Amino acid sequence: MDKIIVHGGRSLAGHVKISGSKNSALPILAATLLTREPCVIHSVPDLSDIHYMLQILSHLGAQVERASGTVTVQADKVSTVAPYEIVRKMRASVCVLGPLLGRHKEARVSLPGGCVIGDRPIDLHLKGFRALNAACRVEGGDVKVFADELRGSTMDLEGRQGPTVLGTGNVMMAATLAEGMTIIEGAAAEPEVVDLANFLTKMGAKIEGAGTRRIAIEGVKELHGAEHSVIPDRIEAGTFLVAAALAGTEVTLRRVNAEHLNAVTNAISEAGFRLNIQRDTITVFGNGSAQPVHLITEPYPGFPTDMQAQMCALLSRANGSSSVTETVFPQRFMHVSELKRMGADIALEGATARISGVTRLSGAPVMASDLRASAALVLAGLIADGTTEVNRVYHIDRGYESIDEKLMGLGAEIERVKNQA
Ligand code: EPU
Repeated sequence: MDKIIVHGGRSLAGHVKISGSKNSALPILAATLLTREPCVIHSVPDLSDIHYMLQILSHLGAQVERASGTVTVQADKVSTVAPYEIVRKMRASVCVLGPLLGRHKEARVSLPGGCVIGDRPIDLHLKGFRALNAACRVEGGDVKVFADELRGSTMDLEGRQGPTVLGTGNVMMAATLAEGMTIIEGAAAEPEVVDLANFLTKMGAKIEGAGTRRIAIEGVKELHGAEHSVIPDRIEAGTFLVAAALAGTEVTLRRVNAEHLNAVTNAISEAGFRLNIQRDTITVFGNGSAQPVHLITEPYPGFPTDMQAQMCALLSRANGSSSVTETVFPQRFMHVSELKRMGADIALEGATARISGVTRLSGAPVMASDLRASAALVLAGLIADGTTEVNRVYHIDRGYESIDEKLMGLGAEIERVKNQA
């Protein structure tokens, strides 16, 4: 297993180009199963989660070609069964259920297992499929969904923890080919849902309201091939904003959608950093010290859970006491004990991290536990004294395209050590 070694104390400056969004690209690639015609998707990031999705599409029988950031998929004839060996590596595999159900009226996909960021049920996805007249059963570790005919209806997909991003996408994909009108109340309004809806619309779907909490889908008989560019990754961008605030003098992010980052840029400016925000670039001016901030993660347009760990790293060096409350995945705090090993002063009270800023962090061997937790540890390593060794970096490769090279391009000193047992 690779590890990343960060030599702390280098200052960051310059430009970094943000890649296409992982969480947009995954359901968009799954949506190519809705048609037998070729689809061409640009700005697909080179990440292990994307490779897993392409493997699933190939396994299902689609022709997949990849040239640099462009992926072409033609799903002329597809099977409807995605077995455990190929879906177990990634929870987002579950988003092939919707398109397979839409097109073939049946799908069988191995159920995603537990996950370190908390229990990750798919009950809301199934609630939506049932509302479309499908039957759903769990058999031998697989979830099986099938219908004689999919019929549009009105449903509410809001759960106890708020709306569901992949659940909204999954049901929206199935509903594009259902008979009649589907209304999803309590829909997720994340930019990734809007990007998926835009792609589906290019394929011939009739969708209104994406980006709001109520999405209307009028079913059509069939969809056709389409070409689409995935939106910039707002979480990768946010991670570089935090890196720049922590360790930068002047860092500019290119190919961002600044509107998608409002909650994050607000938090960073509240922490005392000057930002120059344009439509598709953001410049951060580091000043060596953050002011304390009180944050609550919420569904979009609130502060994203996927930026919570990185903000904990930033606030661990703030000039006072901050708090970060997680409402989307209340157990998503694996980074806390690792940050504490680096000298951070953080106390967990239920789903709230109380962070008392310290004047220095010290490098240590730390263990990456999930994607965003790993990123937080690399960020902390940038400003820690000495050397931070982040183990199990396959987590980070799931969601950040060349993070080590991009940070090195800004002046960080980072090594990747390959194939450690
Ligand atoms: N939930 C349910 N039932 C469901 C589905 C979700 O109770 O059927 C709960 C979850 O347990 C959670 C909340 O609803 O408490 C929100 O989960 P959601 O379904 O929105 O998460 P997701 O769609 O599985 C996506 C991203 C995550 C991101 C969340 C929230 C992808 C591939 N993943 O997951 O991204 O944290 O939305 O914004 O799009 C990451 O990139 O690091 C990552 C974990």
